[in-house]
Amino acid sequence: MGVNLGIDFGGSSIKAGLVDTARGRIVGETVSVATPVPSTPHAVVEAIRVLDARLPDARSIGFCFPSVVKQGRACTAANIDAAWIGTDVGALLTEAFGRRAAFLNDADAAGIAEMRFGAGRGVPGTVLVLTFGTGIGSAPFIDGRLLPNTEFGHLEMRGASAELWASARVRTELSLGWADWGARVTEYLAHMERLLWPDLMILCGGISTHFAEFAPFLKTRAPIRPAALGAEAGIIGAALAAE
Ligand code: BGC
Repeated sequence: MGVNLGIDFGGSSIKAGLVDTARGRIVGETVSVATPVPSTPHAVVEAIRVLDARLPDARSIGFCFPSVVKQGRACTAANIDAAWIGTDVGALLTEAFGRRAAFLNDADAAGIAEMRFGAGRGVPGTVLVLTFGTGIGSAPFIDGRLLPNTEFGHLEMRGASAELWASARVRTELSLGWADWGARVTEYLAHMERLLWPDLMILCGGISTHFAEFAPFLKTRAPIRPAALGAEAGIIGAALAAE
């Protein structure tokens, strides 16, 4: 256990921070930049270089982003440049930064952090962690064990991916109030509950800091909690994966 650099790369920003992996807490400040356009591997590595220079050195790097990750390679690229597909991301980062690097799906990272240090700590049974941001990410846990790489944000709803109906981006783009967006999220969660019957659902992403405002509009069978680690869950989970 020590201090690792955690990086959360998504459709709108790249955020980084040093993480005390024994405590699951950010040490010092978090730094961020807008995601470069196009968000190719080269452009993102250069953006990380700038962020890394603003933080003290860390032993290893944990990197998470919206992709299915298999045998060390990115298999999909949602809301980021398609050039990531097929990339051996660990090798790319180790070569660029000369440090050990781990990478994983962003929702899986947020879920790992919330289950170990946040809203899901010690919770048995089926816990469904969902992230609402540019897309919708999912990370189901059974007695604390993750089923990685689920893509429940792409479940079909109203003829398209659910994330095109209920993500936080959709709320901003359509200027939806909390009641209208809450109704969309409720419809999505009902769909998830019909399929998975979770014992608890945890909502992550920057929007989780507004939980008190939209929670009155959510109707679910299972209890629902906001991320305890807020928008930093992804950074923390990425750093934990780099242990
Ligand atoms: C991606 C997932 C990701 C989620 C949240 C989805 O569009 O397919 O891999 O976890 O967005 O960023």
